[in-house]
Amino acid sequence: MLLKISFWALLLKLALSATDEFTFNGFRDVNLSMDGLAGITSDGLLRLSNATMHANGHAFFPVPLRFKRSLADNVFSFSTTFVFAIFPEHPLLGTSGFTFVISPSKDFTQASENYFLGLFNRTNNGNASNHILAVEFDTWYSPEVKDIDNNHVGIDINSVISNKSHHAGFTSDDDGKFQNLILLSSQPMQVWIDYDGIDMQFNVTLAPLWTPKPKTALLSSTINLSSIILHHMYVGFSASVGTSYSYHYILGWSFKMNGINAPDLDLSSLPPLPQNLTSLEKHDKILSLWMPLAISLFVLINAVGVIIMVVRKKKFAEFHEDWELEFESNRFSYEQLYKATGGFNDKYLLGIGGFGSVYRGLLPASKVEVAVKKVSHESKQGVREFVAEIVSLGKLRHRNVVQLLGYCRRKGELILVYEYMPNGSLDNFLFNQGKPTLNWSMRFQIIKGVASGLQYLHEGWDQVVIHRDIKASNVLLDSDMNGRLGDFGLARLYEHGAAPQTTNVVGTLGFLAPELARACKVTTSSDVFAFGAFLLEVACGRRAIEPNKQEMEQVLVDWVFANWKKGMIHETRDPRLGEDYVLQELELVLKLGLFCSHPLPSARPSMRQVTQILNEVAPLPPLLPYQCHFSGIDSQLHNKPE
Ligand SMILES: *[C@@H]1O[C@H](CO)[C@@H](O)[C@H](O)[C@H]1NC(C)=O
Ligand SMILES: *[C@@H]1O[C@H](CO)[C@@H](O)[C@H](O)[C@H]1NC(C)=O
Ligand SMILES: *[C@@H]1O[C@H](CO)[C@@H](O)[C@H](O)[C@H]1NC(C)=O
Ligand SMILES: *[C@@H]1O[C@H](CO)[C@@H](O)[C@H](O)[C@H]1NC(C)=O
Ligand SMILES: *[C@@H]1O[C@H](CO)[C@@H](O)[C@H](O)[C@H]1NC(C)=O
Ligand SMILES: *[C@@H]1O[C@H](CO)[C@@H](O)[C@H](O)[C@H]1NC(C)=O
Ligand SMILES: *[C@@H]1O[C@H](CO)[C@@H](O)[C@H](O)[C@H]1NC(C)=O
Ligand SMILES: *[C@@H]1O[C@H](CO)[C@@H](O)[C@H](O)[C@H]1NC(C)=O
Repeated sequence: MLLKISFWALLLKLALSATDEFTFNGFRDVNLSMDGLAGITSDGLLRLSNATMHANGHAFFPVPLRFKRSLADNVFSFSTTFVFAIFPEHPLLGTSGFTFVISPSKDFTQASENYFLGLFNRTNNGNASNHILAVEFDTWYSPEVKDIDNNHVGIDINSVISNKSHHAGFTSDDDGKFQNLILLSSQPMQVWIDYDGIDMQFNVTLAPLWTPKPKTALLSSTINLSSIILHHMYVGFSASVGTSYSYHYILGWSFKMNGINAPDLDLSSLPPLPQNLTSLEKHDKILSLWMPLAISLFVLINAVGVIIMVVRKKKFAEFHEDWELEFESNRFSYEQLYKATGGFNDKYLLGIGGFGSVYRGLLPASKVEVAVKKVSHESKQGVREFVAEIVSLGKLRHRNVVQLLGYCRRKGELILVYEYMPNGSLDNFLFNQGKPTLNWSMRFQIIKGVASGLQYLHEGWDQVVIHRDIKASNVLLDSDMNGRLGDFGLARLYEHGAAPQTTNVVGTLGFLAPELARACKVTTSSDVFAFGAFLLEVACGRRAIEPNKQEMEQVLVDWVFANWKKGMIHETRDPRLGEDYVLQELELVLKLGLFCSHPLPSARPSMRQVTQILNEVAPLPPLLPYQCHFSGIDSQLHNKPE
């Protein structure tokens, strides 16, 4: 009898603990509901994302938990803790990161990737009927959604715009000092999220693994969750990646409903993290392994010399193939570029884009300043064609085109060397509130320059060169603040399938012509479309798509078009211009922007016509009103490239 009672008690306890409290020290054989990139590794790590770009991953506790006694009641206290680690593609290059999320549904098939965190999309972002509470661990700076930096933790309620956020780190219990943590460091960290249902305090605390929970929370907010959290909700994680990837791992997780202290994790039994070293670290390892041995065996000193030479040779090893002989004069040695950039030192990093990282360098012999771009590619397929094309592009000479000086090839890597542009990219001046703004005459000069550079690519040479990725961030400014087109042709590498994780459509949202989204047919006219979006960005001082604006204003071209119909197109100009602009030129640029962004390719002007119009050699043809959506961007926003 006693046995029977305790059996039932045990069963009851099991049933309760199955829903109200759980502890996973590793996820081997754990039943989670997962989708997208999420999966459980053979070691028992919960992986939310992998080396795939432009995608999401979700993992939820399979059954919903009860957060309230009754519908109208206040939310129970709850508490959760988990250990995570993020392994980025590049030590400095994050993605939108991951979240801990409480949601009424596990179905996020409609959610967009990138800064929508795999939780929201453009339609429902900010809508109170989402009932989503998330804590984001964000490693990508998206000013569009008011991010504070590229390494922060935030509380998100129904929206990707955080209600509260803080640079990642913790307050040390020892000295009360704040210590920064780098989310991307690949180091495991522990998070505690606690909600007190009585005083409605919501706390998020972060610390390196093995550090006891700090007394001071990183984020502490008083929130009445009763209108946000429904009776039953799912708890879990989401991760979202855009143009670069990171592996997001959860090592262990516990949750407790109706209590304040989530069960402790057994930190020593968490699954091991993958041990990945960068290629440079591997070289160091070879050295440190061989050195002591070599020193103790003095007689082998010559052999050590050989080993060091081998290591050195490997360090500077390049990739040569027979067909490259004809391009020899355009080739830089890896050693030369390595020295020019201080060993590709992060100190000299100028930027990281979808195609790779760019470093500032000083060529050792000539003392010429250059920009060195490292592009990773894996398959050999298409590389030959691409190198031939790149080298021939190097013959292009135009004052509004950034000169390509040469290239170098290593296993899995292509390195391109360009003229150095001291003033950086135009988007910095347009969208970075910290920088001085450009006055109208500078903007107009840049626009005319870029138009002339693009006309040269399209017509000025024996083969048509399509740029494929025109936008403010690909326009660089030389020492005289002339606009110069950079990065042309690079998209080709991706279309040849020579780069990993290609998407068929290369380009940037808001600049992709509608026919590209449909058929992927790249023509000069799709460049003209992007140039139109670029004109509007420069005149209006904002990005082509800004999801946090009011619906009417989110898509720049639609907004300018709507204002044009109302006869107040000039009202869309960059407010930072003040009264410093020439109305006639401003209207010309805005209308030309609309003209170039015509949804029908055949209705767009050629770049020759564009330069003639800008130089007032030809008049601007009358704009015809179009029905429905002007841009076609709406469908692009929601259809991820396959
Ligand atoms: C990432 O994970 C998904 C789902 O498990 C899988 O389909 C995909 O092939 C993986 N991608 C890479 C690059 O490992
Ligand atoms: C996982 O949990 C779900 C929801 O409770 C259940 O339907 C499913 O059968 C479980 N799967 C396994 C393998 O236990
Ligand atoms: C956004 O997501 C909601 C559901 O969460 C869905 O109803 C809506 O259709 C989605 N919108 C788009 C444009 O995908
Ligand atoms: C919020 O979403 C609900 C349901 O999806 C919808 O009826 C409502 O119109 C949306 N509100 C706004 C402001 O978009
Ligand atoms: C969170 O922010 C959203 C929008 O910024 C706002 O509507 C909401 O009231 C905020 N919620 C809380 C609890 O502060
Ligand atoms: C939240 O943190 C503050 C101190 O940072 C602490 O006083 C409070 O008790 C915490 N509340 C919960 C629910 O952990
Ligand atoms: C919290 O909000 C709910 C409904 O929004 C309200 O009924 C309740 O009184 C609020 N609680 C407190 C303590 O303000
Ligand atoms: C680690 O390296 C191995 C082989 O080099 C690779 O298959 C794996 O995907 C890498 N894992 C991470 C997290 O980078």
